[in-house]
Amino acid sequence: MRPIFALLLGVAICGGVSNVVHAQDSTPASSGVYTEQQAARGSALYQSKCASCHGADLSGGGTSPALAGPDFLANWTGRPVAALFDTIHKTMPADQPGTLTTQQAADLIAFLLRANRFPAGKTELPADTVHLKHILMDQAPSAPGN
Ligand code: HEC
Repeated sequence: MRPIFALLLGVAICGGVSNVVHAQDSTPASSGVYTEQQAARGSALYQSKCASCHGADLSGGGTSPALAGPDFLANWTGRPVAALFDTIHKTMPADQPGTLTTQQAADLIAFLLRANRFPAGKTELPADTVHLKHILMDQAPSAPGN
């Protein structure tokens, strides 16, 4: 009985350890997860494909929500960037869903992060959900109210 118990305990501990590693594997968006250049590409795209509904200053309009500020952050803080990526890539622009490439969706998110005062970094935001699942929307260091 004893060796079996030890074996089960070992499996339980290893399982626990691998979960911890998984949790530590995520990068906060506030650590600089996009580049200025990428945000600039996203800005140009935003003006041509998104501003008509969400407003040139991202403040929203009609049924289109604001994409910068407290309401937007309340929707996304604590969630992986992959969730925002999926929403944009699959459902936006609302009048032409499914027309954005994954690279365009990533560039747009870089622009949205900048607009919500997340700092730029040295590496571009990757354009795939496998990596974006590990980047967490946390609080921007210079968000209003901080
Ligand atoms: C034709 C109008 C229209 C266009 C163009 C458009 N959107 Fe939207 N967008 C909407 C509407 C309406 C909603 C709300 C949808 C809902 O709640 O189901 C929305 C929701 C969103 C959301 C979710 C916001 C939140 O906090 O829940 C994001 C992000 C977004 N849009 C990004 C974009 C981006 C990026 C573009 C440009 C590629 C874009 N949208 C173009 C109308 C539009």
